[in-house]
Amino acid sequence: AHADGTARIPAVPAAREPAAQERLTVLYGSQTGNSRRLAEKLARDAEGAGLAVRLVRADAYTQRELKNERHLAIVISTQGDGDPPDDARGFVEFLAGKRAPQLPELKYTVLALGDSSYPQFCAIGRKLDARLAELGATRLVALAEADLDLETVAAPWLERALAAAREALKAGTPRAATVTPLRAVAPSHASEWTRERPFAAELLVNQRITARDGTRDVRHLELSLEGSGLAYEPGDALGVWPTNPPQLVEAVLEALHLDGGAAVALAGETHSLRDWLLARRELTKLARPFVAAHAAQARAADLNRLLAPDRASELGALLQGHQVIDLLRAHPAEWPAEEFVAALRPLTPRLYSIASSRKAVGDEVHLTVARLEYETFGHAHVGAASAFLAAREDGASVPVFLESNERFRLPRDGARDVIMIGPGTGVAPFRGFAQERASVGARGRNWLFFGNPYFDRDFLYQLEWQAALKDGSLHRLDLAFSRDQPQKIYVQDRLRERGRELYDWLENGAHLYVCGDATRMAKDVHAALVDLVAEHGGREREQAVEYVDALQQQGRYARDVY
Ligand code: 2AM
Repeated sequence: AHADGTARIPAVPAAREPAAQERLTVLYGSQTGNSRRLAEKLARDAEGAGLAVRLVRADAYTQRELKNERHLAIVISTQGDGDPPDDARGFVEFLAGKRAPQLPELKYTVLALGDSSYPQFCAIGRKLDARLAELGATRLVALAEADLDLETVAAPWLERALAAAREALKAGTPRAATVTPLRAVAPSHASEWTRERPFAAELLVNQRITARDGTRDVRHLELSLEGSGLAYEPGDALGVWPTNPPQLVEAVLEALHLDGGAAVALAGETHSLRDWLLARRELTKLARPFVAAHAAQARAADLNRLLAPDRASELGALLQGHQVIDLLRAHPAEWPAEEFVAALRPLTPRLYSIASSRKAVGDEVHLTVARLEYETFGHAHVGAASAFLAAREDGASVPVFLESNERFRLPRDGARDVIMIGPGTGVAPFRGFAQERASVGARGRNWLFFGNPYFDRDFLYQLEWQAALKDGSLHRLDLAFSRDQPQKIYVQDRLRERGRELYDWLENGAHLYVCGDATRMAKDVHAALVDLVAEHGGREREQAVEYVDALQQQGRYARDVY
C-alpha cells in the first residue's frame, strides 16, 4: 500500500520540483514510528519556514540520488542489539559498503534514537554520522542521541537542524510556488487522544490464557475504546502508560531511606516523591546513565569500572538483567530526592501489537500480554506494563493511545495468500489479521506458524485457531512446541520442513509476516527463509538473499519484532 514510503504525503503537482541544491531531504528509518514522527515534525517545521522539503522513508530512497543530495537530515533508530530498523537495512548497508560515493558537497545532520538499557545504544545513528563524515560530507549539526525519553534530546536537535537548514538554504530560498507542500502529515487516527494525552480505556476482560503451573502468565485483555474516536487497523499497536508496581516503589523508598510523601520539584513540576516514582520515572529498566550517576553517588569504583569500553558485555548483562532497585541494594548510597528523580529516565509507554480487528470486535481492542517476571539476587522482578495490566481488574481504566504501523499491513488485495509467523505473544497481530480476513471474506489463503514451549499449557488461542481451521478461515496451521520432545523444535524448523510449499506460496505472490522476539527468533526465521528460497528456488545463496530482500522491498515480507 505504501510501497513508495512517501504515501503519507499526498503527491501534489508542484510548479517545479525543487532541485536537490535548494531542498532539504529528511530521511528516516523507523521501527515503531518514533523516528518517523520526529522526521515528520522536522519536515513540517522546515516547510512552515518556507523551505522546500522532501520527506522520505529510507527504503523508498533511491541510493543513486545520494551523490546529488546537498542537504540531508537523518532520523534513525537502533533496534535492541545494534540493528537498523527494517526499513533502513538497505540504506545502512549501502552507505557502509564500497559502493557508497564520496559526498564532498553534502551537508548533513543525524538524530539517532535508541534505548540506553542496551549497550549498542544509538549504534546505527552513530555509524551513519561517522560514515558520512568519512565520505567527505560536512556535519552541520552535531549528532544527537535520544534515549527513550525522546523529547529531551530530540527537541533541541530539531531546532538546531531547522536553523541550520534555513541558514544553508537561504541563498536559494525558493518561491512559495515551487515548494512541494507536505500537506497535513495526515494522522491516520483522527482522534483527540494521543501519546501525550491518552484515552482512559475501560478494561473489559483480563483472562489468563496459559496453564497455572509455572508456565508463563499470558493474558488476553479486552479494552473498550467506546467514545474515543480511536480507530485502528490490524497491524497497529496500542500504547499503554503503566504505573510502576507499588511494592517496588516502596522498596526503592526504603532502600534510600527517603520519605515518599516529600514534595519534589523538577522541571517546573511538583509531585510527591512517591508519585514521581509511580507514574513518571522508569524503575523496571536499568540504563547506562543511571549506572554512571549511581556509581558516583555510591563512590562504587567497581561499578564505575563497568562503564569502561572494554567491559561492554558485562555492562550489557547488568543492564538487561537488573533493575534500579538491585543497584540501590548492592551499592547503598545517599541520594537527595530531587537528584535521584533527575537521574532516572522519564517513564515511557509500552507498545503492544493489537490482537483484534474492529470489523470483528467493534469498539474494543484486544491485547495478548505476557507478564514478564524474573528473579535477581533472590528478589522477584516484574516488567512495568505487563505487571500493571495483569493486575488490573475488570472495570479498571488503562491510559492508552494508538501507534499506527503502516509497514505491517494485510495486502490490499484480499485474494493474496498470507503467511504469518508468530511464536509466543508474537501471535497477537495474526489473531487480528485472521479476524479481519474472515470479516471481509478475503479469498486468499491464511497460513499460521505458531510455537511455544508446551502444547497443553501455552497454545495461545487454541480453540479459536481450531475453529478457524474448521470453518475455513484458516487454511494451514503449523505448530512448534519446543519442549514437548527431547530436542527443541522451533517455528523456523517447521518453515524448513514446509519449504517447498512455502516457496510455492511466495512465488504465487503471498505476503509473509513475522512477529515476536527480534534477537533470536526473527533472525533464525530470516535465515530459514533464505535457505528455503535457495533450496527450493534452485538459487545460489546470494540470489536467495536478493530474493528475500526484494520481498521486503515490495512490502511482501514485513516484521513486527521487539
Ligand atoms: P524455548 O523457550 O523452549 O527455547 C515462544 O517463546 C517460543 O519461542 C518458545 O517455544 C521458545 O522456546 C521459542 N524460541 C526460543 N528461541 C527461539 C529461536 N531462536 N527461534 C524460534 N523460537 C525460539
